[in-house]
Amino acid sequence: MILIGFMGAGKTTIGNRLATKMKIPYLDIDNEIAYTEKMSITDLFKMYGEQKFRQLEQKKLLELIETNAVIATGGGIVLDPINRVKLIEHPAPVIYLETSPEIFLARLRNDISRPLIKGKTDTEIKSVFTPRKAHYEACADFIVKTDDKTQEEIVKEILTLLKIWD
Ligand code: S3P
Repeated sequence: MILIGFMGAGKTTIGNRLATKMKIPYLDIDNEIAYTEKMSITDLFKMYGEQKFRQLEQKKLLELIETNAVIATGGGIVLDPINRVKLIEHPAPVIYLETSPEIFLARLRNDISRPLIKGKTDTEIKSVFTPRKAHYEACADFIVKTDDKTQEEIVKEILTLLKIWD
């Protein structure tokens, strides 16, 4: 199962909880890249730039998508058309955790761990999100709205959807 959505949507926390419930591994593409490259994502961006990061991200997606795991993707995974085709065509269910800008902006304010938004205003962060929205929707098998829901409720909803999927 693959989780997509913007930064601050809760892919990591929800992904971890889902993996525990489903008794399958949890894999985070960013963590896997950092582990393979022996470097934090922030340093990778700083030293090699976004383009190099996107290449590594794609390589990891194509590799990990074949594993039976809960896979959390980075918010920018849908930017690349090859990634989008893969997400759409691969049989693994893709869940879009849809979070409203007010909520992810509140979560991302003062965040220094994400190079793409570090030091940006709310308006600038929103303009990173806007062109991605349609891509998240197009790649998703299911869209789960996360606003006003507890983590528990979101996990429950996804597990119910997966039963339908089977
Ligand atoms: C990015 C999101 C990050 C990480 C990188 C770029 C993006 O992942 O992959 O900083 O372009 O949205 P999270 O969505 O897990 O924060």
